[in-house]
Amino acid sequence: MPSSLRIARVTLSDRASAGIYADLSGPEIERILRASFGDEPTILVHLIPDDREGIAATLRALCDDEQCDLIVTTGGTGPAPRDVTPEATRDVIVRELPGFGEAMRAVSFAKVPTAILSRATAGTRGRTLVVNLPGNPRAIGECLPPLLPAIRECLKHLQGG
Ligand code: MTE
Repeated sequence: MPSSLRIARVTLSDRASAGIYADLSGPEIERILRASFGDEPTILVHLIPDDREGIAATLRALCDDEQCDLIVTTGGTGPAPRDVTPEATRDVIVRELPGFGEAMRAVSFAKVPTAILSRATAGTRGRTLVVNLPGNPRAIGECLPPLLPAIRECLKHLQGG
C-alpha cells in the first residue's frame, strides 16, 4: 500500500454537526484506520448535517478535488426521514459494491438484531472507494474491522494493481 494514501472520514449527523453532542464515531473510525494503516496516511475530517445535496457535494469534492483513495462515512444509514447517506452516496458513486453493506449487516445481525436497519452501501468513483458505516460508535467497532481486508484489496485494484 503506498505511503501517500489519502483517507477521509465523514460524520453525517445533524446533532453532532450542530454541537449538540460530541462526534465519537469519526474518531473511532480514525482509531481503527490508524491501527490498520499506521501513521502515514493523511486523514481528512468532515462533520456535516444530514443533507443529501451537502453530503453528495462533500463526497464529490473528496473524490475529484482531494483525490482521496478511501472515504469512510458514519451515520445517516437508517430508516428515519433525515437518514439520506446511502442516497447521497449513490448520487456520487459510479459502481456500487453491495457486498460491503451485506457483510456488515451479516456480521452485526448475529450480535444486534437491529443491525438490519442500516442501509449502508459502498462504491467507487474513479480511484476512490466510498464506504458507509452506521452512526453508532459501537457499530463502527463491529463493522469496520471485518471490512479491512476487502478495503485493502479494493484500493489495490483501484490503483491498477
Ligand atoms: N450495527 C451494529 N453493529 N450495531 C448497532 O448498534 N445499530 C443499528 C444499525 N446497525 C447498529 C448497527 C441501528 S439501530 C440503526 S437505526 C442503523 O444501524 C442505522 O444507523 P445510522 O442511521 O446511525 O447510520
